[in-house]
Amino acid sequence: MGKLVIADNLSLRYENSEIIKPSSFNINSGDFVFLTGVSGSGKTTIIKSLYGEIKPSGGKLLVGEFDLKNISKSKLSLLRKHLGIVFQDFKLIPEWNILKNVMLPLLIAGVNKTDAENLAMEYLNRVKLSHKADKFPEELSGGEQQRAAIARATIHNPVMILADEPISGLDEYSASLVMDLFIKANRLGITIVIASHSIPSDFSINFRQLHIEKGYVYELS
Ligand SMILES: Nc1ncnc2c1ncn2[C@@H]1O[C@H](COP(=O)(O)OP(=O)(O)OP(=O)(O)O)[C@@H](O)[C@H]1O
Ligand SMILES: [Mg+2]
Repeated sequence: MGKLVIADNLSLRYENSEIIKPSSFNINSGDFVFLTGVSGSGKTTIIKSLYGEIKPSGGKLLVGEFDLKNISKSKLSLLRKHLGIVFQDFKLIPEWNILKNVMLPLLIAGVNKTDAENLAMEYLNRVKLSHKADKFPEELSGGEQQRAAIARATIHNPVMILADEPISGLDEYSASLVMDLFIKANRLGITIVIASHSIPSDFSINFRQLHIEKGYVYELS
């Protein structure tokens, strides 16, 4: 399979501290990747770099056809249309009900409202949230918001899903619903990158592990 992400001596920094030191790694199209490391090691920082929120401070970062070091605003929004992102703090739109939040990527893609609504209900059903469709984010528990955010990130068949701690804080049942969604997406060929402290012990499908330690990214296997 082709390379979807190429990080070549990539470094990432916030003003005065270098969080990721020159590291090289690739992600192939169709990979299921866990990005691991202790709290503060830089998992979220790498996820942010992959959707262009943080620019490389050194080296190279290619995602698909896009060079994230010198990407224009319009190309960046094009790239993001092909990504499904689960943020560590969910980022649901507070003024929109859950159904409309989940519809968002479809509306951006130009899908008509009825089709978008139907598909969003189906995805809410998959994460056992269809009964909350007309509620607003603040009316949901943290775990419910997390599951809605995951439905939103998977609904438009993105090329790659970037999920930042998608199952932390979920009980076993909700965590397995969420992991099942990712596994199903991966079977459709969608590349999955999950930032997580740890890997579920019963995880049965083939995966890769990129581990951050002391600022460097290593492949563990
Ligand atoms: N906006 C920022 N400005 C300056 N430093 C930051 C910023 N965001 C994160 N950092 C620092 O970068 C380091 C890595 O943070 P990051 O959020 O990537 O860690 P993480 O591995 O995702 O941790 P966690 O498991 O707690 O989510 C931390 O030391 C953090 O303090
Ligand atoms: Mg984080």
